[in-house]
Amino acid sequence: MILNNECVVAITGATSGIGAALAVALAEYNVRLAICGRRKERLHTIAEEARAKGATVLELVANVSVPSQARGFVEQCIAHYGTIDVLVNNAGRGTYGSVEDTTQEMIDSMFTLNVFSLWHTTAAALPVMKRNKKGQIINIASVAGKQGFPCNSAYVAAKHAVVGFTAALRTELVDTGVEATVICPAGVSTEWADVTEGDSIGMLFGRGIKRSRSIAEQRGLPLAPLTKMMSAHDAAHIIVESILQPPHTDVFTHAGTEEQALLTAQNRSASEHQMLPFYLGVMQEYAERTNNKNNTSDT
Ligand SMILES: NC(=O)c1ccc[n+]([C@@H]2O[C@H](COP(=O)([O-])OP(=O)(O)OC[C@H]3O[C@@H](n4cnc5c(N)ncnc54)[C@H](OP(=O)(O)O)[C@@H]3O)[C@@H](O)[C@H]2O)c1
Repeated sequence: MILNNECVVAITGATSGIGAALAVALAEYNVRLAICGRRKERLHTIAEEARAKGATVLELVANVSVPSQARGFVEQCIAHYGTIDVLVNNAGRGTYGSVEDTTQEMIDSMFTLNVFSLWHTTAAALPVMKRNKKGQIINIASVAGKQGFPCNSAYVAAKHAVVGFTAALRTELVDTGVEATVICPAGVSTEWADVTEGDSIGMLFGRGIKRSRSIAEQRGLPLAPLTKMMSAHDAAHIIVESILQPPHTDVFTHAGTEEQALLTAQNRSASEHQMLPFYLGVMQEYAERTNNKNNTSDT
């Protein structure tokens, strides 16, 4: 895709993190942007930043968990600019909680936001893209769409569904000129890890990693192969590259994660053995925190 002042790019969830960094990175190409999120003031701040860098920006407050607002976001983008070239389905949120502690409300909200919204935004964009015989749907999944993580099951299941949705979408897009790409980031330094539903998964994983070091030592195991955090700016640049040059494969942003995902698919025991100190560390931390919470609420 050529990125210039004729190119229209719509991004969901652009008030913070990867979506905000992507809006600003794309602004360097003077594209026409449509961005959304629920926080009006944050949206305006990012829009102004992108305008200062050369983009034309349509800012639309929208909650993409509401189907009419998800569709409406894309429809308003098309009505305003007359077309849409790239749709980045980025809005998303995670969960905190073991399988037993994950409520129906959490499951519903994870799938409504991370998965169901994609149908509505994508369905609204496809007729125009198919008519133009060009366009790109970029779905921000996660490494959690390729492998499991403890105390995060509703999110992991939802991101696997994003990968499946995109796989099905691609089968409908053959010979149309429209591309669909899945991006699978690992840890990116954004608000994501602290705003997970239930409690902060970032805090749980951080403490679980600390515990995993002594577990590995006690059991004579190597440390679990965990990747370093990446900045939202660097993640955004990988997404920009995927727009400029469609990779025709799922994109793993962090070194080593594609190999881990492959190992998980091909040899589950070997993968579990590698990750064991991390899984145990997280589960021990979770059990201790849950016990403490229960004891506090009993007194
Ligand atoms: N950070 C990571 O480590 C990581 C790793 C893998 C994948 N991801 C994925 O990357 C994507 C971006 O996450 P991030 O790390 O940039 O997190 P973030 O900083 O928390 O940003 C999430 C964005 O989604 C928006 N959003 C949330 N709920 C929404 C709703 N109902 N309607 C519209 N917008 C909504 C938020 O805006 P408002 O709150 O203003 O609505 C915000 O702009 C997500 O899909 C996430 O699952 C993140």
